[in-house]
Amino acid sequence: MKYNIQLNKTTNSRLSQVDFDNIPFGKVFSDHMFVAEYKDGAWSDMRIEPFGYFEVHPACLALHYGQAIFEGMKASADADGNAYFLRPEKHVERLNRSAERLCMPTFPEEAFLQAIHTLVDLDKEWIPKAKGSALYIRPYMFADGEFLGVRASDSYKFIIFTGPVGPYYPKPVSLYAETEYIRAAEGGIGEAKAAGNYSASLLPARKANEKGYDQILWLDAKEFKYIQEVGTMNIFFVIDGKVITPHAGGTILRGITRETILMLLEKHGYDIEVRPITIDEVVEAHKNGTLQECFGTGTAAVVAHVHLISYQGEDMELPAMETRKIGTFIKDTIDGLRNRTIEDTEGWIVPVKAFETV
Ligand SMILES: Cc1ncc(COP(=O)(O)O)c(C=O)c1O
Repeated sequence: MKYNIQLNKTTNSRLSQVDFDNIPFGKVFSDHMFVAEYKDGAWSDMRIEPFGYFEVHPACLALHYGQAIFEGMKASADADGNAYFLRPEKHVERLNRSAERLCMPTFPEEAFLQAIHTLVDLDKEWIPKAKGSALYIRPYMFADGEFLGVRASDSYKFIIFTGPVGPYYPKPVSLYAETEYIRAAEGGIGEAKAAGNYSASLLPARKANEKGYDQILWLDAKEFKYIQEVGTMNIFFVIDGKVITPHAGGTILRGITRETILMLLEKHGYDIEVRPITIDEVVEAHKNGTLQECFGTGTAAVVAHVHLISYQGEDMELPAMETRKIGTFIKDTIDGLRNRTIEDTEGWIVPVKAFETV
């Protein structure tokens, strides 16, 4: 099915003001955004308009009761300037799983894909070309109903905007294994990409930063024993040649990068284990010298090497960067797939195409 997307192009492009050699993450926004409205049980009024402010009512439900979800994905360009997505359909699938958990309407998959293709094609000059850079795409949905009282809204906005970004973590990161605060408990909303999950992480993250660590390594909510994930990334360990990542048991975000990496590692014959992993196992592996690598994975960072993990007052240093073969292989492979220097044999790369607008 093809959707009617109205196009109102900007007459005042900001592209010439962007310093593509020096792009701060998350501060530069492209010229256009996609907007759709959910009213009377259906999505309508799909449009692309100049990026800019919009009004919300003071009783906007999302601002009070937190019905707000989002996605994060990227488009990149090859040397000839052709633009591509990596597994874009996975993001709308996850968006809709998040929507269901937060009692929000799902967004039609084909409309989502048409919207990102149209938007990115329109603003493709905004895709940065430097290594490790991309056009970040932020789809999000929030309850814009005007009402005081805890109930699901009957009206929503779905918006997609984009912006050029450079590398998220240019340097290896340090992790603080958190034993006071939690990110997610079984039965909660940890598996949804819900705004509330991120607000709950801010205070513990600030405290970890004050202690000198970059990111939090979240542990389970019952025993502070099982490793969940990191800030905005899933986590992988390489112990004695085995690549281990926590199973997605309902409390971690099912990262699309995590899934891609597991498929890549399997294809290349690595020994993989997706299972509960305890912080004690990591401490033990560090002690006996078998903890070889640790890295976080996500759309923004792709792969962020971890150089130190702090647990109960002990700092565990990881082996030197030059020895990080698996994390580096994965990062190079995903970057290479994205900028088309590595052949895509899995059908993951989707060229951005122009759709007609009205
Ligand atoms: C909490 C959390 N975990 C993991 C990830 C990684 O997910 P993905 O690989 O889909 O970007 C993200 C980023 O979206 C995240 O916010």
